[in-house]
Amino acid sequence: MSVTFYMKAFVAVALPIYTLWSLIRDRFVKSALNNIPGPPSESFFTGVLESFFNNHGWDYHKKLAETYGGIMKIKAVFGENELYVFDPKALHHIFVKDQDIFEETPQWIQGNGVVYGPGLLATLGEQHRKQRKMLNPVFSTAHMRDMMPIFYDVTDKLRDAMLARVKNTPTEIELLSWMTRTALELIGQSGLGYSFDSMTADAAPHPYSKAAKSLELAWGKLRLSTAYLLPPLSKIGSAKFRRFVVDLVPWKDVHDVRDIVDVLTKTSTDIFELKKKAFAEGDEALAKQVGRGKDILSILLKANLSASKEDSMTEEEILGQMSSLIYAAMDTTSSALSRTFHLLAIHQDMQDRLRAEIKEAKRQQGGNLPYDQLVGLPYLDALCRESLRLHSPVPLVRRIARQDIMLPLSTPIKGMDGREITEVFVPNDTKLTIGIMASNRNPELWGADAEEFNPERWLKPLPESLVAAHLPGVYSHLMTFIGGSRACIGFKFSQLEMKVVLLTLIESFRFTLSDKEINWEMVEIVAPVPVGEEAPRLPIVLQRI
Ligand code: HEM
Ligand SMILES: *[C@@H]1O[C@H](CO)[C@@H](O)[C@H](O)[C@H]1NC(C)=O
Ligand SMILES: *[C@@H]1O[C@H](CO)[C@@H](O)[C@H](O)[C@H]1NC(C)=O
Repeated sequence: MSVTFYMKAFVAVALPIYTLWSLIRDRFVKSALNNIPGPPSESFFTGVLESFFNNHGWDYHKKLAETYGGIMKIKAVFGENELYVFDPKALHHIFVKDQDIFEETPQWIQGNGVVYGPGLLATLGEQHRKQRKMLNPVFSTAHMRDMMPIFYDVTDKLRDAMLARVKNTPTEIELLSWMTRTALELIGQSGLGYSFDSMTADAAPHPYSKAAKSLELAWGKLRLSTAYLLPPLSKIGSAKFRRFVVDLVPWKDVHDVRDIVDVLTKTSTDIFELKKKAFAEGDEALAKQVGRGKDILSILLKANLSASKEDSMTEEEILGQMSSLIYAAMDTTSSALSRTFHLLAIHQDMQDRLRAEIKEAKRQQGGNLPYDQLVGLPYLDALCRESLRLHSPVPLVRRIARQDIMLPLSTPIKGMDGREITEVFVPNDTKLTIGIMASNRNPELWGADAEEFNPERWLKPLPESLVAAHLPGVYSHLMTFIGGSRACIGFKFSQLEMKVVLLTLIESFRFTLSDKEINWEMVEIVAPVPVGEEAPRLPIVLQRI
């Protein structure tokens, strides 16, 4: 019999058996968590996961937080116990004190490895530390200043393209795709020194953005399978061998992902080859490129040249960083920007106040605002913070405990046996979901109006309870960008991006709601979907000022 036959037999029989066995084993190992209260299981097969990871899960999550507090047990596949956490002290242990024990899940690491290569999103331990060390300086404030001209340049093109679309009457546009194009072009130019998009009204989308869009759908279809099949599968054989298996498996969804990944990889490789060529020709050739030699990739390649042998990065790792950065920067920021404009369309008084602040600052400056003036605008800053607090684009992240460990709590809970619990015993291998949104909306920290959109809260002293909680978030007591050594490396980048785009567009247009009602769906990165439709988009009405 042929190799093909054995391969198919292996995929069809051995993997499911292995997976089933590990699931049943997990069910018993984590019995220590039985004493932690949590929502009752809804199904033997999937526990509460259908409600928990649900596109319309907002109310369910609100209820969970109100009913059980900052830590609870979540029933997963075949009764496995997991934890859902947003207690401040527990968060501090997970992201800072014991961050080496609370790792990214194998599904995240291996999935990102398959799709983007060995960049920040796909490495652990020493390799991840080494990569962060080299990348952190590129995301410093000093470097953000250098990128300002690129940011204004791209955003001015965006405004001009919109002006071409919106003449003298109020006009409906699809804001989400504009924001995605802008976010891709900004990370393209300032991250890779490469232009994806001429940013004109009728430009066709780059194959990269089409591939990235369809990746989400294709990968989404495989979500449950990848959660349980990828970890064992990725341990078998070499990358070449795994590719051989993937080509062999008669599974269209898998082949779709493969083909999309090929487009992403080819784009990164092409950009990298261009850059290497310019690099070899020297500083003058680099300065002629799109990023004028100031983009992240150019700086990274320079840093790599002067790094010690153990700190340097391979070509594969640099390619991995490129793909990871594009992915991590694009849909997150476009989600945040779309949401903020949507909020401003709802709250016209806030929009007017912001516009007045911008106009006054530009009048005083006599032109575009330099970095410090821009980030110093108080109302713009309060609006961005409040939007990122109440509507964190990434509502949940996942972790796994790599050894038995105690997790202390700020607020004790009552166990199923009626006794008070001040720290929770977390067995090795326990999976955890971190409630970013739940922490950002915790009324014990933010006060009774935690669920309200109120930028004003940032213009007066923050509540004592919030400051005293010592949340581990890198930004402004928020968990939006998490904290610790795996915190979002691009949080300053995304702030600057939001502020430049808001400044430029609010000055030129009035934003109002269209007649479509919008559901913001609770997916990995929150996305707007008009009621009755399936695909993400955000119709909004613009009017020239
Ligand atoms: C509003 C916009 C953004 C939000 C809400 C956001 C949120 C996050 C979150 C929650 C994580 C942690 C994921 C996890 O560990 O499970 C993360 C990681 C990351 N983000 Fe962002 N992000 C945003 C924008 C950006 C931008 C603009 C960039 C790049 C320019 C970026 C690059 C990254 C990278 C590389 C990581 C992985 C860091 C690591 O594991 O070391 N992000 N982001
Ligand atoms: C980084 O530097 C190392 C050693 O100096 C070198 O071997 C490696 O090829 C460089 N990586 C890239 C992508 O140029
Ligand atoms: C945790 O469990 C995994 C297997 O599931 C095992 O390989 C590892 O050694 C355990 N860690 C510790 C610290 O016991």
